[in-house]
Amino acid sequence: MKTNEYEYYNSLANWSFSEIKYTSENYTNWVYEDQIKKYVNKKSKVLDLGTAAGEKVLKTFPECAEILGTDFSSEMIKNANINLEKSGRKNISFRVMNNLEMDTPDNYFDVVTARHTITNKKQIYKTLKDGGFLILRGVDKLDCWSLKRLFNRGQAFYDKKPISLIDYEEILDAGFKDVELIPLHVIEFYETRKDLYALLLKTPILDDFSEIDNKEYERIPVEKELFEKYVSENTTEKGIKLIRRYYGIIARK
Ligand SMILES: C[S@@+](CC[C@H](N)C(=O)[O-])C[C@H]1O[C@@H](n2cnc3c(N)ncnc32)[C@H](O)[C@@H]1O
Repeated sequence: MKTNEYEYYNSLANWSFSEIKYTSENYTNWVYEDQIKKYVNKKSKVLDLGTAAGEKVLKTFPECAEILGTDFSSEMIKNANINLEKSGRKNISFRVMNNLEMDTPDNYFDVVTARHTITNKKQIYKTLKDGGFLILRGVDKLDCWSLKRLFNRGQAFYDKKPISLIDYEEILDAGFKDVELIPLHVIEFYETRKDLYALLLKTPILDDFSEIDNKEYERIPVEKELFEKYVSENTTEKGIKLIRRYYGIIARK
């Protein structure tokens, strides 16, 4: 069945990733949540793009003057508002917005955050105040590479240029200064094959999907034999190993 990113994320709106059991080891000390704490103060106005059901904002963003979380999925925003009410947190609101057609005010936010979502750097630049910061974390081409090579497919599998480099250049082209691109090496260990399987079902890791060429794509069921081969070759004392490749970017307007 063909799907696109919008339908895919809408269908995941009621799903919680905290159900998947895994541990992770970071090989760099750049932590997205810590960077947000470093750049946000009590007076800050913050915009979180591709906020999903708001879990990250509600659980990890510090108290400040204003946080707006946006997502193009109306189902995600519906759940974000339910989560907001349960959280009792103040100065936070959520609403639907497409990251590629942003309608937030010019020169308004002190910090724009974007984790694992598509972005338009020129529009982010416009909505930031002078001296404001963009904090971004992305999933790079070589993420889960041995798994993707085994299945001979997956997210960004055919991208000629890694998305981290494209983001980096777009951020420079938009006019940002002091742009830092940090490769993030993380090894995850999944407690059981069921946990790893759930990850593959609930993320587009094995889908022929790319943020560069954002078209409709086919969701192919996870081939059982290949999955078992991966599990047997990657089972360690700590769990089933999966090597992640993320990247972090900090940039100033
Ligand atoms: C992988 S999730 C990341 C969610 C959250 N930022 C986090 O780190 O947990 C990607 C989110 O981006 C949203 N998204 C994808 N494309 C978008 C677009 N063009 N405009 C707005 N949101 C988008 C999806 O609906 C989804 O909620």
